[in-house]
Amino acid sequence: MSVNQIRPLRLGMVGGGEGAYIGNIHRIAARLDGAFQLVAGAFDVDAARGHRFAVTQGIDPVRSYDDYQVMIAAENAREDRIEAVAICTPNHTHFPIAKAFLEAGYDVICEKPLTTTLKDAIELERLVEATGRFMGVTYTYSGYPMIHEAREMVAADQLGKIRVVQVEYPLEWMATAIEAQGNAQAAWRTDPKKSGRGGSIGDIGTHAYHLAGFVTGLKLEALSADLARFVDGRLLDDNAHVLLSYVGGARGLLWSSQVSLGCSNGIRLRVFGEKGGLAWFQEQPNELTFAPLLGRTEIIKRGGDDLSAAAKARTRTPPGHPEGYLEAFANLYLGFAEAIRAHREGRRPTAIGQHIPTAYDGLKGVAFVEAVVDSAEIDERRWLTPYAV
Ligand code: NAI
Repeated sequence: MSVNQIRPLRLGMVGGGEGAYIGNIHRIAARLDGAFQLVAGAFDVDAARGHRFAVTQGIDPVRSYDDYQVMIAAENAREDRIEAVAICTPNHTHFPIAKAFLEAGYDVICEKPLTTTLKDAIELERLVEATGRFMGVTYTYSGYPMIHEAREMVAADQLGKIRVVQVEYPLEWMATAIEAQGNAQAAWRTDPKKSGRGGSIGDIGTHAYHLAGFVTGLKLEALSADLARFVDGRLLDDNAHVLLSYVGGARGLLWSSQVSLGCSNGIRLRVFGEKGGLAWFQEQPNELTFAPLLGRTEIIKRGGDDLSAAAKARTRTPPGHPEGYLEAFANLYLGFAEAIRAHREGRRPTAIGQHIPTAYDGLKGVAFVEAVVDSAEIDERRWLTPYAV
């Protein structure tokens, strides 16, 4: 990876104000390699709190806005207007905010799930096509170099025909009704009007679904889902098991959970083919385990000289100096910046700007959530009691 020698793109942000989670990760990721410079924002649903927060981020008070509509109008009038916006707000607001920025001619970086309804996701994706703007969706885990290595290995047929995909994203932080005890982040995540129809499946199942498809290149043909609500009073699933059937015959199991005590952020992917198996676990993200049919199981380390160009493009430090979550997120930002520049310059993006999550991936994620919830609601017949119990 080379140091960025071109001027940073001017970035605006919606959401991500004081106490918010992902906005800060976006800010760190956007500036880690100098790909973007944050210059404007409507950081909070509470405008006054957003303005106070903007000061702490060194934003010119003139470019701290009451809301995203004021922001678009004011930025439109500037010569040094923002070049892209990062949307870091709860799910139900992604659609109107992204739509407004796309229509105003801005490139957009949007959080997942892209929208709360399939109709909105389709409309956004069409709008991206119609406006010719870029839209990146922050499927974080596809920023890891060892995930790109895994993807390259599958593409190079090192695993042979894929048979089984196991992917899981269990969390513990919502194992009790913290939404009723003032936890704002849990409150909107458990409110169908703000989160959408999916609970754990929309919040983290979408990450798992994207990761599995990203690495294997497999296309989902059908699914069968079981959703559970373990915490009393919760309106959305806090645990999901989804059987996956891929085009070509591979089978999979996806598990997302918000109630799994002991699991911090253990997103894990295992892929088994006719010639080999791969395993990756985000709590040890610098390593990929590969078990070939013939030969010993090996641990492939990030930073090695023999890794793919895709992995190398996303690597900053030599093996043994750990890279992790923030660097993976920054890789997405580097990719988005490169995609935006390449688009402007009418050229093919370099390695860092290829295989990045875009609006279409966001749309697929929303379609997945819809199908999971529909399956769980309509497919009552999947439960059979064994004859001898
Ligand atoms: P949060 O509740 O911590 O923060 C939301 C922020 O948005 C707050 O500052 C709030 O004031 C602001 N906000 C809400 N409505 C707004 C509006 N209309 N205009 C301006 N600001 C507004 O939420 P969190 O956990 O940061 O999640 C935000 C989004 O990021 C969600 O869509 C979530 O699914 C996604 N997310 C993605 C992750 C990833 O790994 N890519 C990880 C965590 C969250």
